[in-house]
Amino acid sequence: MTSDNRKLEGAVIVVLGATGDLASRKLYPAIASLALRGQLPTHFSLVGVARTEMTDDGFASDVCNAIGEHNSDALSAFQALRPAMKYVTGTFDDPSLWSDLAEVLGICDRDHGAGGNRMFYLSTLPQFFEAVITGLHGAGLTEDPEGGFTRVVIEKPFGHDLDSGRALNEFVHAHLNERQIFRIDHYLGKETVQNVLALRFANAIFEPIWDRRYIDNVQITVAESIGVEHRGMFYEQAGTLRDIVQNHALQVLSLVAMEPPASFEADAVRDEKVKALRAIEHMNVFDVGMSVARGQYTPGTVDGETVKGYLDEEGVSPTSTTETFIAMRLAIDNWRWAGVPFYLRAGKRLSKRVTEVALRFKSVPHLALPTTAVDSMEPNTLVLRIQPDEGVRLEFGAKIPGPGFAVRTVGLDFSFRDGFAEVAPEAYERLLLDALVGDATLFIREDEVDVAWQIVQPIIEATQRGALPVHPYTAGTWGPYASDQLLDAHFDHWRNL
Ligand code: BG6
Repeated sequence: MTSDNRKLEGAVIVVLGATGDLASRKLYPAIASLALRGQLPTHFSLVGVARTEMTDDGFASDVCNAIGEHNSDALSAFQALRPAMKYVTGTFDDPSLWSDLAEVLGICDRDHGAGGNRMFYLSTLPQFFEAVITGLHGAGLTEDPEGGFTRVVIEKPFGHDLDSGRALNEFVHAHLNERQIFRIDHYLGKETVQNVLALRFANAIFEPIWDRRYIDNVQITVAESIGVEHRGMFYEQAGTLRDIVQNHALQVLSLVAMEPPASFEADAVRDEKVKALRAIEHMNVFDVGMSVARGQYTPGTVDGETVKGYLDEEGVSPTSTTETFIAMRLAIDNWRWAGVPFYLRAGKRLSKRVTEVALRFKSVPHLALPTTAVDSMEPNTLVLRIQPDEGVRLEFGAKIPGPGFAVRTVGLDFSFRDGFAEVAPEAYERLLLDALVGDATLFIREDEVDVAWQIVQPIIEATQRGALPVHPYTAGTWGPYASDQLLDAHFDHWRNL
């Protein structure tokens, strides 16, 4: 993994699901930023594939409009690419779509210097993944062309549970090699998530205390203030467990918990992540009830605005028991982490938007000061602030000036905004560039998906059995009381955020 000026001579990105929300909001603006920074291949083509009838020119205009809306600074750099933008219309189960696409890709190689380098981006609903891969395969597009490469980027969700995740992996492998597959989790594209690796493995001061001897518990919070927005129907099938925990939260956890890799080669890093995830203790029937709390938001006030409850959201069943919040206690059974609980919580319509990792340190072995002196002191805490206000904060006790010896928690803060003149690229920019140049470090390997499903599967099953009730919580709060009880039972408490 490097941050140099990696650049290809030629390539084409094919966006399958070219008229969708993800493509307009994230992919085209990210491609435009790469164009602005001169990081796109020297000869670059963009091909859109979708059902809507459109000309090449109509597609180019739509893409430019999306960039104008979401990344206007990069629009002029992108305009130059218009002649190399193509569009193919059809439904994914129609073989003629794929032969048309093969023809267009031939044109990109011949007339636009793509050099046989092809990256297919599956920006479709997951139910189309198989049809797309079958179509590509049928048209001979899953093979690496002579002198070039074929890569396929797949968006989450990678399945719906352990069985379907495995079935999807098997299906994909029947048509592609693992080295061609780039499973994207946009959290890994976030600078602050990558900074977990830099902080741990480029500094000598943290690693010696990064274990059970010094750390009491780890708290990972992925809190959003938004609700399910227009995605009620999707959310009904997913819930927070599948939407956030199985992927984003466990990815962050794996970076915090992993052992130092021998190198920053993609597989060296991913081997260590997988080992950490494999060490997570599997919950049994009894643990699930004791270790997990599910919640669902009811009407409330967020950022001063009255908002509806989940059951009133569009596309949601009025009797839904889907969770919009989940908290859990995980144990990692290995030498480094034995006895250190990892608490995760994630949810929508919480008090505010904040994603962070907090490592809470143990108290001193003997307190010479009177206990009243440290009454208002929180445990020493190292906070890795993923978003917003990206940074790192170390919290510790300092003497309150004046008579007596009272101690209060204070903080040492590092902020990315103040500390660097460089502007952080959007997650998708980083990941698209990595996929183009073939660096899979920040992509999810098959075994990572599998172990992540293994971790959450007992929760899915307990939920299906009705053994994990969903507790209501008022929008704009920090989730249901059951989430606090989860920690109370272990004499811990969530950090006040
Ligand atoms: C997506 C989820 O993967 O991540 C959304 O599907 C969620 O529900 C989003 O809102 C959060 O991403 P970010 O980058 O805003 O933290």
